[in-house]
Amino acid sequence: MTNLTQEKVESVLSTVVDVHTYSSISIKSKIVSHTVQGGVEALPGVKNIIAVASGKGGVGKSTTAVNLALALHSEGAKIALLDADIYGPSQPRMLGVKELRPEGTENGNMKPVLAHGLQTMSIGFLVDEASPMVWRGPMVTQALEQLLKNTEWNDVDYMIVDLPPGTGDTQLTLSQRIPVSGAIIVTTPQDIALIDAKKGLGMFEKVNIPILGIIENMSIHICSNCGHSEEIFGHGGGQGMALDSETNFLGALPLQVDIRTDVDEGKPTVIKSPESTASLIYLEIARKTAAMLSLQSETVGAFPNITIE
Ligand SMILES: Nc1ncnc2c1ncn2[C@@H]1O[C@H](COP(=O)(O)OP(=O)(O)OP(=O)(O)O)[C@@H](O)[C@H]1O
Ligand SMILES: [Mg+2]
Ligand SMILES: [Zn+2]
Repeated sequence: MTNLTQEKVESVLSTVVDVHTYSSISIKSKIVSHTVQGGVEALPGVKNIIAVASGKGGVGKSTTAVNLALALHSEGAKIALLDADIYGPSQPRMLGVKELRPEGTENGNMKPVLAHGLQTMSIGFLVDEASPMVWRGPMVTQALEQLLKNTEWNDVDYMIVDLPPGTGDTQLTLSQRIPVSGAIIVTTPQDIALIDAKKGLGMFEKVNIPILGIIENMSIHICSNCGHSEEIFGHGGGQGMALDSETNFLGALPLQVDIRTDVDEGKPTVIKSPESTASLIYLEIARKTAAMLSLQSETVGAFPNITIE
């Protein structure tokens, strides 16, 4: 848990308990695995898999996925980030490790690449960015399964899976062969994106993967010059969609130039400016995500145990 959480607990406690009656507070979380869709085997070394999806392309899934992963990590959980975009991997660049290659293990598997404390794997580490391969459906499926199953994940609490856009082969593989505990849908506020996001939502529902919630990205534009705000793509569509479909609204990220330049630089906002408004929103989303997952079956709870000594 972060010091921030610790400080909050201390300040709340000090209003009800005499501060001199305890010497320290420790907060611990226990993260358990949650049920996945029927007939799919659990993945060794990984407790929970969360898919980040969208209907429409370019809505900011990858940017959101990496910041969410880093936010969960900053809360003290062990996190992996799987880049499931075989056609256009972005995580090696967003994490600033595109020059790195995974190390092999004795049994012919790979070790995940470590970046900002995350265990990560991407096809981008294995094939040359400049000479993209021509992938056909079954190859995509195979490549994805290999990335997932031939990587030796080490004691992961949450694996975030960054999906390509749409409802194609990758999504199908994911829903049939990969043990997913829950999905998050990223959308921008405009109608056209929302229509596609609804399709994505329907797809997960059909295969019995619970929706943990909806994130609205590029919600309000904050001018980097004067700080004034403007609703370029409209606002509130994600929230409305969450209401309509009876799912949870996890939060809204502004359309803000630093969010883009930070991932371009390989230092996502949660790492680059952990105290910024955007980072606090990512943190809030991370906590809500963990809480939503803890409400799924098999739950002992990801809520912290607070002990006063
Ligand atoms: N909140 C934001 N503010 C400003 N720029 C953003 C924001 N979110 C994402 N971007 C930028 O928008 C572009 C698209 O984002 P990203 O690659 O994350 O989308 P995606 O949904 O993963 O795309 P694809 O469908 O191609 O996988 C990137 O240049 C990214 O830096
Ligand atoms: Mg992407
Ligand atoms: Zn301005």
